[in-house]
Amino acid sequence: MSQVAQAREANPAVAPLPPLDYLDLKAQFATIREEVFAAIARVMESQHFILGPEVQLFEEEIAAKLGVDHAISCASGTDALILSLLAAGIGSGDEVITTPFSFIATAGSIAHVGAKPVFVDIDPVTYNLDSSLLESVITEKTRAIIPVHLFGLPADLVPILRIARERGLSVIEDAAQAIGSRYEQQNVGKLADFGCFSFFPSKNLGGAGDGGLITTNNDAMAERLRMLRVHGSKKKYHHEILGTNSRLDALQAAILRVKLRHLDQWASGRQDRAARYCQAFEDMQLTPFITPPQASDDRFLHVYNQFTIRCAFRDELKNFLKQHGIPTEVYYPLCLHLQPAFASLGYKKGDFPISENASHEVLSLPVYPELSNEQQDRVIHAIAEFAARRAIPRN
Ligand SMILES: Cc1ncc(COP(=O)(O)O)c(C=O)c1O
Repeated sequence: MSQVAQAREANPAVAPLPPLDYLDLKAQFATIREEVFAAIARVMESQHFILGPEVQLFEEEIAAKLGVDHAISCASGTDALILSLLAAGIGSGDEVITTPFSFIATAGSIAHVGAKPVFVDIDPVTYNLDSSLLESVITEKTRAIIPVHLFGLPADLVPILRIARERGLSVIEDAAQAIGSRYEQQNVGKLADFGCFSFFPSKNLGGAGDGGLITTNNDAMAERLRMLRVHGSKKKYHHEILGTNSRLDALQAAILRVKLRHLDQWASGRQDRAARYCQAFEDMQLTPFITPPQASDDRFLHVYNQFTIRCAFRDELKNFLKQHGIPTEVYYPLCLHLQPAFASLGYKKGDFPISENASHEVLSLPVYPELSNEQQDRVIHAIAEFAARRAIPRN
């Protein structure tokens, strides 16, 4: 225990501890400051800001890292999904199956290309799409499946890919939260037709703004994606197909190239923090008062973009932690099928009970490599205190 914490315990009148950060990107930046400034300076000296050599190098480096044939950068993770759907020729009249327990972009991208999102419920332990439900919603209009590797834990891809291959459907991995995670020893984004990544700053590989990436092993699709992101052209001012403007800035690419070199180490840091939470919860017999996330195993390597626990008293716990200076997040408080934006799809409360229960019970705790043991202990002890106050019988 720190001197401040000891003093506080001895005398509660001592000033409270400062609030923790949910994610401390300043602490991360402090470790790569010189590298990042050198990368920014290099781009500024070049005055080449759109696509160009930095973007090409980033795409080559990340393709090698993920073990894919092609990596095509774009303006955001949302665009990565939209461009993949467009490249697969999906649009009006088509249906795409996905999970209702995700960020809006997963289903929003489907609607944006004019297709219809069709939801299936999730597995209660992994929070990922339950593949045993897929067959029940496949129709002759179904064109694709978008599994999400939620919170950094890969979805169970083998059954999804098997069903997709049997039915001639495309599979687009929404790996926005899961860069570096592995399924059966393979990087996510490598096994399906497309892998979509986000470089939103809070992601495990986060830029200094928006950015995204599509991975594919299909040469024709890669070529199409490269055209789609620049208004459908290969040759300047000659537009073969209808595309859009969705490019990664050279500044983002240069910064992401720096961060890519640290990705494995940061993932280990997150895994280490996650294991430490799980061990402490077990030692303090806090399970099943709270349910920790499914840990990594040989088949599913979790990279913990979020460390999401489950608690029947979630809102109370969240408030209690807030009073103790511990920020938490709820991903996600309202399932996609119940979002007003999707009212026209005609879903109603109760349609996906496992997702809806999760949305009432999940709570994400601070998890990042720079989170110190002392800071993490504050979170653990506050949860233990809450459990004791609630007088919940322990197992
Ligand atoms: C699961 C999921 N899909 C898609 C996206 C969209 O990525 P972006 O914010 O880069 O557009 C996100 C980003 O938060 C996400 O978490």
